[in-house]
Amino acid sequence: MTLGDGRATLVGVSTSAARRVDYLRLSVTDRCNLRCVYCMPPEGVPWRSHDEILSYEELLAFAAAAVAAGITRVRVTGGEPLVRRGLAGFVERLAALDGLTDLSLTTNGVLLPGCAAELRAAGLARVNVSIDSLDEGRYAQLTRGARLGDALAGLDAALAAGFSPVKVNAVLMAGVEDEVDRFVELVRQREVHVRFIEYMPLDRRLAAEHDFVPAGFVLERLHGDHHVEAVDGPFGLGPARYYRVPGARGTIGFIAGVSDHFCARCNRLRLMADGRLKTCLFSAPERELDIRPLIGRPAALSAAIAQAIAGKSFDRCVEAPSGGRGMSQIGG
Ligand code: 5AD
Ligand code: SF4
Repeated sequence: MTLGDGRATLVGVSTSAARRVDYLRLSVTDRCNLRCVYCMPPEGVPWRSHDEILSYEELLAFAAAAVAAGITRVRVTGGEPLVRRGLAGFVERLAALDGLTDLSLTTNGVLLPGCAAELRAAGLARVNVSIDSLDEGRYAQLTRGARLGDALAGLDAALAAGFSPVKVNAVLMAGVEDEVDRFVELVRQREVHVRFIEYMPLDRRLAAEHDFVPAGFVLERLHGDHHVEAVDGPFGLGPARYYRVPGARGTIGFIAGVSDHFCARCNRLRLMADGRLKTCLFSAPERELDIRPLIGRPAALSAAIAQAIAGKSFDRCVEAPSGGRGMSQIGG
C-alpha cells in the first residue's frame, strides 16, 4: 500500500456563519475508567478529591448563568462522565434550562449499555463515543485493557436509545492506515458519524512527534479508495469537516486541531470539574477563571462569563502550554 504525504487539504464547507461563543463543555469529573495511552500514564493521574469537584448544584448554577450569557449548547464531558454517580438526575435538570437548545455527552461508551435509555429519557439529545480503534487487540492496547466489544455495545445502546446523531471520535495515531477500511465499514453498517481527531500534544511525555498523523493522511486514503465527497456538517458550526462515503448511512469527518487552523472558528468555553473556566484548551492556568467564588451570585457569574467570552482569543494558540493538565482533567 502506498501512502501520500498527508497533505490532502480538508475542504471547508461551513465556515461562513458568524463566530459566536455559544457552546459550553462541562466536565463533571476528572476520573476515568480507562487509561488511554495518549491521555494518561500507565499509573493514571491523581484524582481530585470530592470536595475539589463542583457539586451538581454548582454545575447547574454555572450552566444557568452561562445560558443567560448566550450559551445555547452544552456538552457533558469528563474524564469519563458516566463514572459520576447521579448523572441522569443532573442531566434532567440541565435539560430543563430555558434557552438550552442542545445537550450532548462525550463518553468512552463502556458504561453506556447500563444507562443510555435512562439518559435519553432524562433529556440528553445525543452522544459522542470515543473508539480509537476497531481492532480488538489494538483497542485493548490503546486503552490499556478495555474491551472493544464493550465500547461497541455502548455504541449500539446509544443508537437503540434513540440518540441522534451518534458520533464516534477516533484520535489519529500511527497505525491508523490499517483502520480506515474498518471505519468506512462502520459507517456503512451503522448510522454513525466518525470523526478522526488529530492528536493534540497537551502532554509531550505521552506521545512522540513521529506519532503525529495529520488528518490529510487519512483523507487521501478516503479519496483514493472510497471516493468521498465533502458535505456540510449537519450538526452546526464546529471544528469538524465531514465527508460522505457513497452508499453509507453515516459520514466520516476530521477535527484537525493542528493542521487546520480552526481557532478563528472556535465557539466554545470549557468548565473543568474543579470549577476553573477555560476559554481555550491551551490557555495557561493563570488565564483560567475560578468560578467557585461566584456561585450563588448569578448576576456576577453571568457578567464574568460574558467577560470571559469577550476576552476569548481567536488567534492560533495551539503551541501554547496547557499548564500540565491532560485532556481527562480539562474535559476534551
Ligand atoms: N488530542 C486529541 N484528542 C484527545 N482526546 C483525548 N486526549 C486527546 C489529545 N491529546 C480525545 C478523546 C475523546 C475526546 C474528548 O478527546 O479520545 O474522544
Ligand atoms: Fe481514554 Fe478519555 Fe479516559 Fe482519557 S479520559 S483515558 S481518552 S477514555
